Formats: sequence, C-alpha cells, structure tokens
Amino acid sequence: MAGPSALVLFGVTGDLARKKLLPAVYDLANRGLLPPGFGLVGFARRDWAAEHFAELVEDAVKEHARTEFREDVWKQLLEGIRFVPGDLADNEAFERLKATLTDLDESQGTGGNHAFYLSVPPGAFDVAVAQLRRHGLANRPKGSWRRVVIEKPFGHDLASARQLERKLGRAFEPSSIFRIDHYLGKETVQNLLAFRFANTMFEPIWNRTYIDHVQITMAEDIGIEGRAGYYDGIGAARDVIQNHLVQLLALTAMEEPTSFGADNLSAEKRKVLAAARTPSDLDAHTVHGQYGAGWAGGREVPGYLEEQGIPADSRTDTFAAIRVDIDNRRWAGVPFYLRTGKRLPRRVTEVALNLRRAPHLPFNGTDVRSLGSNALVLRIQPDEGITLRFGAKVPATPMELRDVNMDFGYDSSFAESSPEAYERLLLDVLLGSEPLFPQPEEVELSWKLLDPVLERWANLGTAPDHYVSGTWGPQSAADMLARDGFSWRRP
Ligand code: BG6
Repeated sequence: MAGPSALVLFGVTGDLARKKLLPAVYDLANRGLLPPGFGLVGFARRDWAAEHFAELVEDAVKEHARTEFREDVWKQLLEGIRFVPGDLADNEAFERLKATLTDLDESQGTGGNHAFYLSVPPGAFDVAVAQLRRHGLANRPKGSWRRVVIEKPFGHDLASARQLERKLGRAFEPSSIFRIDHYLGKETVQNLLAFRFANTMFEPIWNRTYIDHVQITMAEDIGIEGRAGYYDGIGAARDVIQNHLVQLLALTAMEEPTSFGADNLSAEKRKVLAAARTPSDLDAHTVHGQYGAGWAGGREVPGYLEEQGIPADSRTDTFAAIRVDIDNRRWAGVPFYLRTGKRLPRRVTEVALNLRRAPHLPFNGTDVRSLGSNALVLRIQPDEGITLRFGAKVPATPMELRDVNMDFGYDSSFAESSPEAYERLLLDVLLGSEPLFPQPEEVELSWKLLDPVLERWANLGTAPDHYVSGTWGPQSAADMLARDGFSWRRP
C-alpha cells in the first residue's frame, strides 16, 4: 500500500489519462492500495470547475475501470480530487498548483510527497520539467519525496534521448525519474522472469544448442485511432520496437540477475543489449511497411494515407520487422526477429522460441515433413499463457505424426484476474520501487540498436512497403524470413 501522497496528472484530458491512468487510480483505491487521504490533481488547459473535472474522472472510471464501481471508494477518492486550469508555460498556473498541493498536504495529509506524471506530447516535456523546477515543485522538503514520470517516446533517436535525460537530470535526482514502458507492468511480462528463473526445466534448452530462432511479435488489428498527431513521423519502430519489443528481447535473452532489484536487473538487461546488433545488410534484414485500405473486424477500413490528419505523402511505418543478433556465448547464431504492425489480422503479443529439429527422425516410411519444430510460446496477450508445441502420434495410425499443443492459461490456473499494467506501475511510482522502469542506459542502448535502421530507411528515400489492412504485413516481411530459411508464425 502506498504511503501518504498526491499524484499530479499533466495532460489529464488525453486518451491515456481517460482510458488508463484515471481508471488505474480508482482500481488501486478499490483494492485498498492507496492511502485514505490520497490526492489526485488534474492539470490542463481547460477552464473547468473542480466539479466538472470530478465528473470527468467518474465517467472515465465507470467506463474503463477493471474493478466494480463502489460508491464508498469513489466518495473517499473524491475528497482528494482537485483541478488546476492552466497552460504549461503559465507561471501563475504553477503557483496555483503549488498552493493546491500545499492545501492537500494540510487537508488530506499527503505529506509533501508528490508525483508528477507528464502525460503530454514529448515536445512539452522540457517546459513542464523547467516549470516544476522553477516553482520549487521538484525540490523535496526533508522527509518527503518528489518524483517525475515520463511516457515514451524517450527522444527520437540516441542524441535526443541523451538531451532529454540531461534536462530531467537538472530538475530531479536519478532515483526520482520514472520512465514508463507499460509492457513491463504486464503480469505476463513479469512472468518471463518467474518462468525462466524459478524453474529448472527450461534453462538447459534456453540457448543456441536447442533454440533455432526467436520471434517476438506484437500485432494490433487497430489502425492509428485518431492519434495522427502523435503517430505520424514516429512510426511503428519508434512507437513499439524501441521500447516494448526491445525490453521483451532483453528479458528473454539476458542472464540470471543476482536479484530482481533495479540495479541488478538493469545490469543484466544492459549487458545483453550491449551485445545485440542488427545485421550489416539492413536491406535484407529489416522491413518497414504501411497499411493500405482493406478489412478489419468485418468492415472496410481506409489506408494509412487516407486517415484523418495524415499527409498524403507520409512515409511513416505502420509495420516494422528487424532481425537482431546477439554476440555472446548463449545466443551466437540464433536470430531474434522482432515485428510489430497496425491493421494486422488480430491483436496478439507473444515471444516464440523455436527449437531445432531432432537431429534424426527414426520414422521410416512416415511423412515427417509436415511436422513443425518444437516451440515454446510465451503468450503475453490477450490470451495470456504459455504453449509448448511438440509432435505426437495420431491415434489409430501406424505412426502418423502431428503437432500438438500443451497449454497453460492464466484464466484456468488462477482465480485472481491480472491487474492492468498501469495499476502496478502507478503503485510502484508511489512506493518508489524502480525495477519495472527502464534505466536511461537501457533506453540509450535500444536507440543504438535502432538508429542505424531508422537512418537507413530515411536514406532510402522510398515509401514503406505496402500491405493490405487485415493481412500479416508486406510480402517483403515474408521474404526477409524466407531468406534465412524460416517463416513467420501466424499466431
Ligand atoms: C503503446 C503504443 O505504447 O502501446 C500504441 O503507443 C499501442 O501505439 C499500444 O497501440 C498497445 O498497448 P497494448 O498494451 O494494448 O498492447
């Protein structure tokens, strides 16, 4: 349970706040994980009365919270809800914010412990951080804490990421800066650590001797959903590969950390990311694509260039696939393929470890060509669980073989439902617990991995490869794997 504290949400009128952050605050309160006098302050450029803001929070909670709505919990939360109207550049607004927080400290007992969540466009980080510093909000009085939370993208490339870190570092101590990668808040992603390091059975095969290649997929069936302003110019590789997929890669490939403390965990992630590289022939081993018109969920959908707010000549990637090699003893010669895309056939995220085929198949006279290789698939979402695929004898045949699946599902194994990623991460911010937040060196290493690819795509001067909405991406993605002798999984 978090101690006395207040959370200030900048950009509280945005999608993230409405769909994820505000509901997560309520779910935490409902689970008894917030202190009774918790303060929640919205800051936005709207001329709203506090009551209007409270109604907006209530609507967001009723529509999107994971747990049931309870009047008593809501009434208690309401006591600490405040709204501060103003622009980020407005000094008076920051003075009002300061007065509001002082008032919460006195009336709600928030104890001077304040977390500032910057759910604002990356271009606004600078001014927000500078204002917090200028108005003394970043300085913690003795015995209390001040923390800042930022959302990706952490910069646009390595140079801008470093610049952002320098600016944050001028206002906040390193241990007070929380970079959110919401994938690390997912139960199934944390389970990667449990699965790998709590069991004996998988470690012996978790290496180049048994694993042939790894596919990490994050597919979405949605398009850009009105987020043109954010998405265009950023694209799939920066939006998803740089953070979520590189983190999944690190957790899959790293060595066992001495502990799950932030420093030890990050040290292992950094070590493996430092050994990761993209192949030198980037044209053969990377693909960027863009969706055209097609079908999604049984209805016709427009292509990316026809979406509202997208320039007709945009070269933004909505699909990206890259091969990563890891130069160490465990993984030498095992390609990791990372792919993500919008408007693919379905929403699914998984890490699939494909094992080598048996060196000899003693089934004379039996067709074994249809037998796939063994695979271990960590199903991150939405059907959370783990699948083990292997060959089995088809009953009532002399010796016909077929691939079968052995499944673990969260739904059938646990009565508890998984908290939303943001519940866990917001609670960790309030507790000052750092392990689930990427450290700046990890962010730098993932830009180092991606920068050459992004540069290559920009220098090509051609449009991304076309794919029809509702298909698994451009033909070039299939060709990329075929050249290495593999094919993409159809999860
Ligand atoms: C976000 C991306 O980080 O993750 C979005 O910016 C994407 O483009 C989203 O839709 C997907 O998150 P999840 O948890 O639904 O897989």
